[in-house]
Amino acid sequence: MMSSSNKKLIIVGASSGIGKELAKRYVENGWLVGITGRRNELLNEFQKKHPEQIFTECFDVRGNDNITHVQSLINKLEGLDLLIYNSGYGDPSETLEWELDKTTYETNVKGFIEIVHFAFNYFVRQGHGHIAATSSLASIRGSSWAPAYSASKAFMSVYMEGLHMKAKKIARKSNTPVDIFITDIQPGFVNTKLAKGNGQFWVAPVEKVGRQIINAIDKKKWRVYVTRRWWLIAQLMKWAPGWLYHRVG
Ligand SMILES: NC(=O)c1ccc[n+]([C@@H]2O[C@H](COP(=O)([O-])OP(=O)(O)OC[C@H]3O[C@@H](n4cnc5c(N)ncnc54)[C@H](OP(=O)(O)O)[C@@H]3O)[C@@H](O)[C@H]2O)c1
Repeated sequence: MMSSSNKKLIIVGASSGIGKELAKRYVENGWLVGITGRRNELLNEFQKKHPEQIFTECFDVRGNDNITHVQSLINKLEGLDLLIYNSGYGDPSETLEWELDKTTYETNVKGFIEIVHFAFNYFVRQGHGHIAATSSLASIRGSSWAPAYSASKAFMSVYMEGLHMKAKKIARKSNTPVDIFITDIQPGFVNTKLAKGNGQFWVAPVEKVGRQIINAIDKKKWRVYVTRRWWLIAQLMKWAPGWLYHRVG
C-alpha cells in the first residue's frame, strides 16, 4: 500500500536502457517513480506492471514545454525528492551533419539545463532534494567520433559540478537546513542501444550499471564513474598530453 511517506523520484528518459533499469530498481525499493520519454507505449507498458508506483508523462525534451511536463509529474507524485536527468542522444558524426549536432545539443544541453535548473530551484525552495544526471566519460575530452556528444556531456558535467558547489554554499549561508545533493554520473560503455561504434571495450551490463548508480546516489557522491573500473580510464584521459590524445581521440 503506497502512502505519502514513500520517497518520490522523476527519471527523465526512462523508457529504455539505463533509465528503465533505474526505474525498476527504485520501484523494488518502494519509491513512487515518475517516468518520461517520447515512446508512450513503452511508458504505459511499464506503468501497467506497477500501477500504484509508476506515473508517466510523455514528452520530447527538445520541445518547449519541459517545465509544464515536469511540474505535472510532480503533481501526480504529490512531491519530489530526487530527479534524474537521463535522456540522451549521440550518434557517430563522420561528416559533421547539422541535424545530428542540433539533436545532440537540444537533447543533452537544452533539455538538460531547462529541467535541472528548474529542479534545483524547486529543491532550494523546498529545503531538500537530490539531482543526478547521466553524463558520460566522453565529457572529459574532445572526440573526433562525435564532437557535439562529448561537448554536450562536458556541459552537463561542468554544470553539475557548479550546482554541487552552489548547493554547499547555500547550505553554509542559510539559517535553516538546506540539504541539496548533486550526483554527476559518468558511465563508460554500457550495453544499450545508444552504445554504438567500433572499438568498444569493458561494455557493462545495464543491471550492474543501475546497481552502481543507485549506490552512488544513496551515498550522495557528487561524481561517479560507472562501472568503477572506468575511473582508471578517466584519469588517463584527463592527464594524457594533447599530442598523444589527439592521435587516438
Ligand atoms: N550506453 C552507453 O554506453 C552510455 C555511455 C555513457 C553515457 N550514456 C548516457 O546514458 C543515458 C541513457 O542512455 P542509454 O544508454 O540507456 O540509451 P537508451 O536506451 O537509448 O536511452 C535513452 C533514453 O533517453 C530518452 N530520450 C532520448 N531522446 C529523447 C528526447 N528527445 N526526449 C525525451 N527523451 C529522450 C529515450 O526515450 P524515448 O526514445 O522514448 O524518447 C530513452 O528513455 C544517455 O544520456 C547517454 O548519453 C550511455
